[in-house]
Amino acid sequence: MRLGVNIDHLATLRQARYAGMLDSPNCEPDVIVAAGVCERAGAEGITVHLRADRRHIQDRDVHRLRETVMTKLNLELGNTPEIVQLALKILPDDACLVPENRREVTTEGGLDASGQMKMLAPTVQRLQSAGVRVSLFIEPAPGQIEAAKKLGVEMVELHTGTFANARGDEREQELARLRGAANFAHDLGLIVNAGHGINLTNLAGILTVPHLAELNIGHSIVSRAVFIGLENAVREMVAAMGRDREGK
Ligand code: PXP
Repeated sequence: MRLGVNIDHLATLRQARYAGMLDSPNCEPDVIVAAGVCERAGAEGITVHLRADRRHIQDRDVHRLRETVMTKLNLELGNTPEIVQLALKILPDDACLVPENRREVTTEGGLDASGQMKMLAPTVQRLQSAGVRVSLFIEPAPGQIEAAKKLGVEMVELHTGTFANARGDEREQELARLRGAANFAHDLGLIVNAGHGINLTNLAGILTVPHLAELNIGHSIVSRAVFIGLENAVREMVAAMGRDREGK
């Protein structure tokens, strides 16, 4: 199982001070350097979300990351003409279509793939024709997985946010939903990834979900980096993923 590190929150920190001043010699932290640190520490992918409101990652970041990321660049994007056009210029390795709402603090809920088939189909086709592998960030629900299969995407990313925030019985129910969804998607031939809200504490639950190829983790790694540094935070997560998978 691979770790993709979402570095949006490093850009959030930079924008808090240097929005509109990215050419300042004082501008920090450098997300390009950060991506390299993550890769050297064992990340096998770098994930960024270019939001329509550009609240964290900027166009320039994505262009530069395309040049420098040695593992795999995964671009998360909403299905809007402007951002899709940019994705077609940047040509990330993977593109993950996500729902986007300007008022949300972070991506809330999965993409309604089954309700938006008509709007998603041309975007999926355009990205795939350009050689980009496409993923859909969806709820762990059979209807959404069937829609992903019909749309012909290579991958799905199961939204783990509800599980991450659940307590007591609900936690087990959510895990069961994730396991069922992962089995179903795998049986349909889809690559199964997962992300949102994963941290060192809830990782053990996530690792009981079968067939996961990649976890995309951002906020908890960046938070941990405040205390132990980015390189150590990534190493720690990579080690925890391996250790828990082996059941040690
Ligand atoms: N995967 C997707 C599709 C996301 O939108 C996000 C949040 O940007 C993540 C993974 C990472 O979530 P977190 O920051 O909670 O680890």
